[in-house]
Amino acid sequence: MQTLRDLPALRGALATLRADGKPVALVPTMGALHDGHMALVDEAKRQAAHVVVSIFVNPKQFGPNEDLAAYPRREAGDSKMLADAGVAILWAPSVDVMYPSGYSSNVSVSGVSEGLDGAARPGHFDGVATVVSKLFNQVRPDVAVFGEKDYQQLAVIRRMVLDLDMDVQIIGMPTQRAEDGLALSSRNAYLTEQERRDALALPRALGEAVRQIKKGMPVRDALHAAQALLLGHGFGSVDYVQLCDAVTLEPMEVLDRPARLLGAARIGSTRLIDNIAVDPV
Ligand code: PAF
Repeated sequence: MQTLRDLPALRGALATLRADGKPVALVPTMGALHDGHMALVDEAKRQAAHVVVSIFVNPKQFGPNEDLAAYPRREAGDSKMLADAGVAILWAPSVDVMYPSGYSSNVSVSGVSEGLDGAARPGHFDGVATVVSKLFNQVRPDVAVFGEKDYQQLAVIRRMVLDLDMDVQIIGMPTQRAEDGLALSSRNAYLTEQERRDALALPRALGEAVRQIKKGMPVRDALHAAQALLLGHGFGSVDYVQLCDAVTLEPMEVLDRPARLLGAARIGSTRLIDNIAVDPV
C-alpha cells in the first residue's frame, strides 16, 4: 500500500493504478478505524479492483465546541489494518494540502442537510459536502462507500452527487454493531465502562419505538417514549428522536412510506447517533 500526502503523488499513483482500465473505489474516513470501516473497505473491494481509503480529520465539519482536538488519531495502526486488507492507496493529506492558504469555497446542500444533525451541529454538513466533493475531485472514484450509521450524511452525499452531476456511484453499507447491538463508532472510544453499558439504551429505544409504531402507536407517542427511555437510562440529553422520510429526511407523523428512525443523544461528554430502517406495514 502506498501512503500519499500530496496531490501530485496521488495523481501519479492513480494514473498507474488506472492503466489496467479497472474501476477504483474510494472509502472516505477520518481514521481511528474499526470493524465498521473495514466492512466499508470489504464492500469497496467487492465493487472495484482498486481501493483507495482517505484518512482526513476534516476541521470544517467540527463546530467550535466540538471534539476536533480530541478526535482519536491512530494513523500507524490504521495504516497496518488497511495494508492487511489489500488497500492500494492510503490518501492522508494534511490540512494545508486540503485547504491551502486562501481556500474560499464551500459546498452546501439545502433541505436534507437542515434538520436533525444539521440543526444540532450548524455548518457540519457543509463541511462534509465540501470535503467529500474535494475527495471525489482528487481521487475521481467510480464508486464510493459510506456507512448508513451516518444516515443523514449519506442522504446529503446522495443529493449532492445527483444535483452536481458527479459521476460516482454511492454505496450505503448497513451499520455494523457490537454483539450487544451498539453501533460501532470511533466516538465509542470516549465512553467510560458505565457509559458504554448505558449507551445500549440508544439502539434499544429506537428498536422499541419502531416496534410500537408498527403495532399502531401514534408516531409522536412512540418518539416521546423513546426519549424518556434514553433520559431514564444514563443519557443526559436528547438532541432528537425523529421518524423521517428515508430519502428526503422530512419528518413524518404517520408511517405511510419507507422511513428511517434517527436518534442523537448525549451520554457524559459523548454524543452518539444511531438509526434504523422502518418500512410501512
Ligand atoms: O464519515 C466520516 O468519517 C466523515 O464525515 C467523512 C465522510 C470522511 C468526511 O469527512
